[in-house]
Amino acid sequence: MKIKSINSTDEGLEICWDNKNVSCFPWFWLRDHSESIVDLHPDTKQRQIDSFSVPFNNTVNKVWLDEITQNVYVKWEDQSESCLSYTLLECMAIPSQPQSNGFQSADFWNSPSEIKIFPEMCYEELMSNNGIKNWLENIQKVGFVLVNNTPATAEATKELMERIAYIRSSIFGKFSVWDNKLDTPDDTAFTSLAIEPHTDGTYLHDAPGLQTLHCIRRDAEGGENQLIDGLAIAETMRKYHPAAFEILCNIKIPGRYIKTETYLKAYRPVFRVNDDGEIIQVSFNNHDRAPFRLDNSEMVRFYEAYGIFHNLANQVDRQFEFCLVPGTVLTFDNWRLLHARSALTGYRQLCGGYHNREDFESKLRTI
Ligand SMILES: [Fe+2]
Repeated sequence: MKIKSINSTDEGLEICWDNKNVSCFPWFWLRDHSESIVDLHPDTKQRQIDSFSVPFNNTVNKVWLDEITQNVYVKWEDQSESCLSYTLLECMAIPSQPQSNGFQSADFWNSPSEIKIFPEMCYEELMSNNGIKNWLENIQKVGFVLVNNTPATAEATKELMERIAYIRSSIFGKFSVWDNKLDTPDDTAFTSLAIEPHTDGTYLHDAPGLQTLHCIRRDAEGGENQLIDGLAIAETMRKYHPAAFEILCNIKIPGRYIKTETYLKAYRPVFRVNDDGEIIQVSFNNHDRAPFRLDNSEMVRFYEAYGIFHNLANQVDRQFEFCLVPGTVLTFDNWRLLHARSALTGYRQLCGGYHNREDFESKLRTI
């Protein structure tokens, strides 16, 4: 799409595109979004213009289009000059409510057999120059990635994680190494018990975006891991259980984490959606659900809806089951996939940690 012509009106500047569409940008918006070096800091990209220092109806002196760059310039009566790049004008051509994107380029899967290309790669590839792109795209598409041939050490795992972005701190520390033989475990994750499908951090306002796990020592029976695509469950419920889907979009379920000197609590629906109804986050942890009570009829409807989700998540044929073994690093999208673990006997030592969701998205934008 190219700019064919521009036309000044009382309402604003009309941009006539070569596909015959017309966008009318208000004058005040143009001034507020000026990208000239005095209005938008060239390094930080932070707004410098004092948008509200001039009246909304500040008069325009002159407007012109640079035919080569397709940038638009506005000279105001106070002699200041605004520059609007083609890129910005094109991207803002159609007005819309600002909102978070749904899962972009995600191929959701209702069973492991629906995964088109199995998301795995080797350590050497990830640590090479172009490896991150493949790693990120696997998570974006399928929700997880396995990195094989990784040295079975905490140091190598930490290095792998830092290849992506800084590691997020949490109540469990920054980068953790643990086994299933702790005297006083802080979480069921650090025991040999089975754990139902869940997402981490339902008790945090901002749940971890990505989770990485590496089993660096294993002399155990059992302890199989399961991954379940929460996005696929959401779309299944939207289609086949629309009333239950609505309930899970609306009721903000409290999650909690209680220890001697810690009491974390946050509220989030199972399905967080944007204005277009697209799923932007799945949160589910029945183990960490805090008490809440609705009117009796509403409570019944909640239990039915939550039960449908629970049963879908526990359907064996929805689950990708595998065993974490030394050398294979698992990273998954904690805003999309649920993870679970079977009970085990014997000894396991694991290490891993979290990345923030925004750092994952940042890497996707910039890679
Ligand atoms: Fe977990």
